[in-house]
Amino acid sequence: MESEYRYIRVTPVSPALGAEIGNVDIAAGVSDEQFAEIRQAFIEYGVIFLRDQEITPEQHIGFAERWGQININRFFRPVASHPQIAEVRKEPHQKNNIGAQWHTDHSYDQVPALGSILYAREVPRVGGDTLFASMYAAYDALSDGMQRMLLGLQAEHSSRHSFGEEAYVGIDDDELGGRLGNVEAATQDALHPVVIKHPLSGRPALYVNPEFTLRFAGWTDAESRPLLEYLYQHARQNEFTCRFHWQPGSMAIWDNRATQHCALNDYHGQRRLMHRITLDGVPLEAAAA
Ligand code: SIN
Repeated sequence: MESEYRYIRVTPVSPALGAEIGNVDIAAGVSDEQFAEIRQAFIEYGVIFLRDQEITPEQHIGFAERWGQININRFFRPVASHPQIAEVRKEPHQKNNIGAQWHTDHSYDQVPALGSILYAREVPRVGGDTLFASMYAAYDALSDGMQRMLLGLQAEHSSRHSFGEEAYVGIDDDELGGRLGNVEAATQDALHPVVIKHPLSGRPALYVNPEFTLRFAGWTDAESRPLLEYLYQHARQNEFTCRFHWQPGSMAIWDNRATQHCALNDYHGQRRLMHRITLDGVPLEAAAA
């Protein structure tokens, strides 16, 4: 059942997930009543979007702290003098963007991040949208037989291949442009249930992603790959997704336990500069069999 909102305006953007939030001005101040409803919309829609926010880095940090503890990213270049904010940057001459593969942030951590608050400072004239997919919808649409099998499984996740030495082979320094680094810190390995019980909603959600998941625990790579690939294709089908078009001052707040996302890399020759704050989460429990 949909919640009622009195202090903010909530406009769903697709049946599966996502809602635009209106009547909020972070720079002017967010009341406790408004914040409680923003949080409720986040739980209900998995990802929420705000427009036309003119905020300083300090206001971004202050707003993030209302959600919980900030998780400082190990690998992204931080904003100078604000280490709590990670830069998601692509310069006109750079070919690769950050986050082009479907993923859920920090699933390689034993206690994965709750979510992220991404704020657009500079966006391409056209392109650079972000896609989101609902992992509730993905799980709900699986057959009873597949759901039963997945409920008994765990999967291994890692940061090593994405942020360690091997991620940089064949990529020149100019392309990286100081955007990513700290390769020696890429030592995280984690085991998580394949179907989690969402810590806030209690709903079952599929929790494997193509960027950080390696294999099912106790299965070989060769055994894991076909089923993981099936689940990735299944999870990103159009009906389970929404697409966000950024403008300067747009903000997206997503729940890593309920969604995956993918940053489109279709704006070569243009700059895109986003500020991301990631929030600490809680250990993940398996959904009940
Ligand atoms: C990310 O994956 O955190 C970045 C998403 C985006 O740049 O749209």
